[in-house]
Amino acid sequence: VSLAACNTLGFAARARSFSEPDSIEAARQQVLAVQTANERLIVIGGGSNLVLLPWLDAHVMRPAFDALTIVPSQDGLSATVHVEAGRRWHDLVMTLASQGWWGLENLALIPGCCGAAPIQNIGAYGVELADHLLRLEVMSLEDGSCRWMSRDECQFGYRDSIFKGALEHRVLITRLELSVTREATPRLGYGDLVRRVSDAMSGELPTPLAVANAVIATRSEKLPDPAVLGNAGSFFKNPQLPAGQVEALLQRYPAMPHFVQADGSVKLAAGWLIDQCGLKGVRRDHVGIHSQQALVLVHFGGGQVSELLALAAEVRDAVVTRFGVTLEQEPRLLGAMPD
Ligand code: EPU
Repeated sequence: VSLAACNTLGFAARARSFSEPDSIEAARQQVLAVQTANERLIVIGGGSNLVLLPWLDAHVMRPAFDALTIVPSQDGLSATVHVEAGRRWHDLVMTLASQGWWGLENLALIPGCCGAAPIQNIGAYGVELADHLLRLEVMSLEDGSCRWMSRDECQFGYRDSIFKGALEHRVLITRLELSVTREATPRLGYGDLVRRVSDAMSGELPTPLAVANAVIATRSEKLPDPAVLGNAGSFFKNPQLPAGQVEALLQRYPAMPHFVQADGSVKLAAGWLIDQCGLKGVRRDHVGIHSQQALVLVHFGGGQVSELLALAAEVRDAVVTRFGVTLEQEPRLLGAMPD
């Protein structure tokens, strides 16, 4: 089965078999069938945070169940959102924002599906999924049983969760419960969101839809549309370093963007580090570094995943040599090179 259409980087890859169950019960039947056949099972979502190697010796499942219910509280001031894994994240954000619910609007235009959102704890413009997730349901890939997990159990961190650690490849996230509110809570601290929103509102109070549209405009300027140019968003995490190491770097690079974290460590902008190495906009045959945002690696089409991995290594080497900082890859690597 070809998976070329299942990853936004657009590399050719093949799997043993593939299914798209359209209900949680159908997914359970598939999980049990794969168990009986003694095969591996890999779950994917929108494929926007994946680097696929050419061969996946596994059954690949992409959830297609996507029910959405919004249950308002008795006073109507808040609501619990029940959403199944297969719904497109951006559709959920826009449905809520256009109905006047505050909560997810800063996360507009993030590609991928709701079931994948908790894995890397998607975040943008000062908000992350963990801020609004109440709990989620997982299905064991061993026996098909389902259970609910609280937000604390998910061990969320910056671009991180238990689903990248102890539970990696062990569960299917079937559905999420999120909280949203009618209370105006615009979070406009990032970049020029304030200006964009006030321009759009001309004196009126902001709405969640106006914030979502400002986020869409900001993202569209910097981030390539995966439907047009192959990419997996930020290819590296922003590195988090001890304050002392950052002090030393700031002596040499006073203009370096840096963000002090609650625990005293300091986050650097990987895009800035790569940019300083002169790599923004470079092209290596079929792959390159996006000209508007150095953190995004792109595939122009017709290339091999090995070219992308070579470019990623080149970037990592350049940043280590210049800054002594090791970048960690963000998208998940799945599969293997053919023998
Ligand atoms: N910068 C440069 N050159 C570049 C890119 C960035 O100098 O080529 C500088 C910017 O000027 C800014 C700083 O680096 O001072 C941060 O850049 P930006 O605001 O674009 O955000 P980011 O840290 O590069 C992160 C997320 C994005 C998210 C944005 C907005 C990570 C790995 N990436 O990017 O998430 O949309 O913040 O919140 O945390 C993704 O994960 O796929 C993604 C797009």
